[in-house]
Amino acid sequence: MCGIVGYIGAQQAAPVLVEGLTRLEHRGYDSAGLAVLGGSGLRLAKRAGRVRDLAESLPHRFGGKIGIGHTRWATHGPANDVNAHPHTDAAGRVAVVHNGIIDNAAALRAELADAGVPLVSDTDTEVLAHLVARSTAATLEQRTAEALARVEGTYGVAVAHADFPDRLVVARNGSPLIIGVGEKEMHVASDLAALVRYTTTVAHLDDGEMATVTASGFTTYRIDPSGLSATDRRAKEVDIDPAAYDAGEHDSFMHKEMLEQPARAEAVLRGRLDERFGTGHLGGLNLDARELRAIRRVKILGCGSAYYVGEMGASLIEELARVPADAEPASEFRYRNPIIEPDTLYVAVSQSGETIDTLLAVQEVRRKGGRVIGLVNVVGSAIAREVDGGIYLHAGPEVAVASTKALTNMYLAFAMLAIQLGRVRDLSIADGRRLIAGLTALPGQIEQVLATEPQLALVAHRLAEAESLFFVGRVRGFPVAREGAQKFKEISYRHAEAYQTSELKHGPLALISPQVPTVAIVPDDELVERNVAALEQIAARGGPLVVVTHEGVDLGDAAAKADRIDVPRSERELDPILLTIPLQVLAYHAALSLGHDIDKPRNLAKSVTVE
Ligand code: F6R
Repeated sequence: MCGIVGYIGAQQAAPVLVEGLTRLEHRGYDSAGLAVLGGSGLRLAKRAGRVRDLAESLPHRFGGKIGIGHTRWATHGPANDVNAHPHTDAAGRVAVVHNGIIDNAAALRAELADAGVPLVSDTDTEVLAHLVARSTAATLEQRTAEALARVEGTYGVAVAHADFPDRLVVARNGSPLIIGVGEKEMHVASDLAALVRYTTTVAHLDDGEMATVTASGFTTYRIDPSGLSATDRRAKEVDIDPAAYDAGEHDSFMHKEMLEQPARAEAVLRGRLDERFGTGHLGGLNLDARELRAIRRVKILGCGSAYYVGEMGASLIEELARVPADAEPASEFRYRNPIIEPDTLYVAVSQSGETIDTLLAVQEVRRKGGRVIGLVNVVGSAIAREVDGGIYLHAGPEVAVASTKALTNMYLAFAMLAIQLGRVRDLSIADGRRLIAGLTALPGQIEQVLATEPQLALVAHRLAEAESLFFVGRVRGFPVAREGAQKFKEISYRHAEAYQTSELKHGPLALISPQVPTVAIVPDDELVERNVAALEQIAARGGPLVVVTHEGVDLGDAAAKADRIDVPRSERELDPILLTIPLQVLAYHAALSLGHDIDKPRNLAKSVTVE
């Protein structure tokens, strides 16, 4: 959420910064801005709107070889030109870009106002620029550290100062900050995506760390109450293909990422399946068989789609390991003073590894002595660093706001975890092998579902015409319905509500009409007859139906007018993921037919780093 870039070197900074911001735009896209330091001092350009609007509006003479930039998702104050970052002091000598939240901004604003400092924006960040400017310490590092010492909250921050034209100072506390080492130039960014075009030699700052970045290198410090103490952070080569950050021939990252799923699914399974003993090889859990057996309960924490996949995971764990398991939105968990039990395994699920609600939930569990593992995609992210062990998702960089491939890999990671937990309990070797074979077949089956995209597109176009629709499922199918509704609403902006099929008759059936379609999840499982009966009830009220099911399932009279989507059969327990894939494609094509910006849905941003 929000993106930061910085540059110092031999090139003109503005084009490099604009390129970096374009790569970060998925993290916030309501306003953008740049500050560059050149011969005539600090120059500022910022405005509400997209990065391309900013780039088009840059003055011809916007020279300077040092600069910082920001793309914003508004938290404090509306998205307008004034609230866009960078923020400066009154004299225009200090510029600051910031990700995170300054919790005591109101108190600091009042204090600055009392001291006669004119505050021009509604943002929390502006106070930082004034605090740095008011410091009289000798160095920019000390001035920045003094300012940060006043701040309660989280930050990834970059500071440029006209009096120190050979450097940028950057710092991190709770919001990522990465330094990229180029050829006689240095880059700064909150996300690798902005750097990979220039360099893959990077250093990730730790929380509480600050760095001086000059054209020739960087030095890092720990911000201690007594001052700054040098740290020994070195840049390392990261193994990343820059092409992973390009949409290539696809019209959107979401489309690219959906189609990557078979390959990414193989990547998460690779080396982790033990066919001989019918179990998983999850060394990263840091739990031996005795510790796995001692687990009496599993509590899964995640937000949004990660929470819905967590529900699928909980049901897998209950079915395969017979260990009580449930999922809860991480955003709610911490606020109800949860009871943390020593024999419960807490599982944090997050693509970004940055979602603040999930991170805070992890910290709460750990504070109370609980054991947490992470199902995380971004290696080295805040959640990955905080947990006691886990399973990396190997989904590759996910850029589209609507998550697809990371969620599929979360599901597969849960399946492996459930099998491993089951195999140290009652799950038989035969069942373990059956499920491992089922998992191995999934990448190819996902590919088969994706190959039906043209047919799914036609169904999606019809669905897109409805203002409001239902997604329904039962038991294993209900989290699938929830995830389907989530994906549909977030990029098509249609009202999509998920319900247990069994609950329709207790209320929502009143809303069924020819104008309100229902997407029903009807796997060929123990509930198929009950599900088909519910389809009849919907059809009898004139409700249009789209049924996601398995080949050969008799949908009865309701099928006469239904759009039917058959997915390949898997092992029953593993059905949810194949039922989910077509729902991604439906959401994508509905949004496309409505002309929406698929990768950057309104009001949202990738990686929610504010509460
Ligand atoms: C929906 C979506 C969000 C995320 C949620 C958690 O498509 O992407 O609901 O799932 O914000 O994000 P992570 O997984 O990064 O913690």
